[in-house]
Amino acid sequence: MGEPDSSWLKEGRKADMISQTLREARKYEEVFEKMIGEEERPGFHLSARTGWMNDPNGFSFYKGKYHLFYQYHPFDSHWGPMHWGHAASSDLLNWEYLPAALAPDEVYDRNGCFSGSAIPLPDGRHLLMYTGVARERLGNGAVNDIQTQCIAVGDGIDYEKYGKNPVINSGNLPEGGSKYDFRDPKMWRKEDGSYCCVIGNRAADGSGQILLFTSQDGFAWKYEKVLIENVSRYGKMWECPDFFLLDGKGVLLTSPTDMLPVGFEYHNGNGTLCLIGDFDQETDSFTEQNHQAIDYGIDFYAPQTVLTPDGRRVMIGWMQNWDTCNMRDQKVAWFGQMSLPRELSIKDGRLIQKPVRELEKLRQGEVAYRDVSIDGTASLEGIQGRMVDMELEIRPEREEEAYHKFAVRFAQNGQYYTSLSFHPRDSILKIDRKFSGSRRAIIHQRRSLVNSKNGKLKLRIILDRFSVEVFVNDGEQALSAILYTDQAADGISFLSDGAVKMDIVKYGLLRG
Ligand code: FRU
Repeated sequence: MGEPDSSWLKEGRKADMISQTLREARKYEEVFEKMIGEEERPGFHLSARTGWMNDPNGFSFYKGKYHLFYQYHPFDSHWGPMHWGHAASSDLLNWEYLPAALAPDEVYDRNGCFSGSAIPLPDGRHLLMYTGVARERLGNGAVNDIQTQCIAVGDGIDYEKYGKNPVINSGNLPEGGSKYDFRDPKMWRKEDGSYCCVIGNRAADGSGQILLFTSQDGFAWKYEKVLIENVSRYGKMWECPDFFLLDGKGVLLTSPTDMLPVGFEYHNGNGTLCLIGDFDQETDSFTEQNHQAIDYGIDFYAPQTVLTPDGRRVMIGWMQNWDTCNMRDQKVAWFGQMSLPRELSIKDGRLIQKPVRELEKLRQGEVAYRDVSIDGTASLEGIQGRMVDMELEIRPEREEEAYHKFAVRFAQNGQYYTSLSFHPRDSILKIDRKFSGSRRAIIHQRRSLVNSKNGKLKLRIILDRFSVEVFVNDGEQALSAILYTDQAADGISFLSDGAVKMDIVKYGLLRG
């Protein structure tokens, strides 16, 4: 196996590897972070240290900690020239901010350091691969962003961009592949010590394709093949791919732009797609078997996974929807948060997602009720709060008598609430945040087809200050949505049309 190239990294260069652009970002975030009170942030979801956050990047385990980078514009709560923000954690829930890792400070990334990934190198260094964006002006005044893949190497705090960047450029593209939509490399290391990477690209037909590259040392990369093609089936460009083996299957996660709805499976706009199939490791061939959305709520995009030291495949996504970014008051100190990290598995050809088991350590103050009868409206002593982990199991009160509707409302007071309602007749679960306090004419509800027999349903609902995540039937489906409802609205109530029996366990959640 080739040794990683380190000839360019000379002793004593560390001091000047921090550019003025990165220094300014680091100074800014350090000062302005202090202006954000702890209670103004999510309790256990990672949010932008200052300014704007989008996609998770570089999710990896390095030097005994999880590292999570993110698309970052520290100076403003809107998207702008992309930096990489950085945080580290021992348990995936208590995150410590680290100084911004990358800034757009080289010719090849002057207009942005877009999404990418990270892996530890055998020599102890941390390797980042990201998309460098450089704007090109055409003769007719039009502008185009050229996207190339670049690397940086560091120690978990400071990263130096490689002297031979970009390491993958338009010369490595297959025939017809766009050099303007060529982004979001996700690397992994194979058992034989070599490296692979998948990158999103737009093919000649204008729709997405996933390209596979390989490397012996992580520095010199070679184009192998088109791993998976969209051929205009699911949205257009495929952003932020991740590819891995799980429970004997090959799994592609990607975030297609401009999707059309297909029944209750996909929704309009930028969405998420999981393709599950057989992967032949000899020939690197993927045979698709099933497709599904990754998240069935409103806000979830660009997820990325890490393999934990104990062998779990854990995914984290940007808990936001590009089309609903202006839901929040414009004058805010931070915008954008990550989803909960979720443990993935495959069951009966479908993706199962469960909140990481570490979340259970944050639980406190159990309140439980069994066999509660609900017929009309009800609230239960001790069941309220905005930082909550709650498990509900519902069924008809009398087996032979179906109920028409069951709903749970949360983040509720006299004025506001968000609801999750279930109609057993058509097996549809609906999330609706119309009354959550939003003053914008944007999407506020989504319906999703769930598995339910005889009116039975199991829900795990996790509330943080500014979000809800719902896990249906032990992780068969997940629905995420952000909420900016006034924190004083902390009520939870239940209603039914027809008689329902419910078991419920609720815990408060508090970061250690
Ligand atoms: C996805 C995305 C990526 C890109 C990044 C830019 O949300 O559009 O494809 O790398 O955001 O911030």
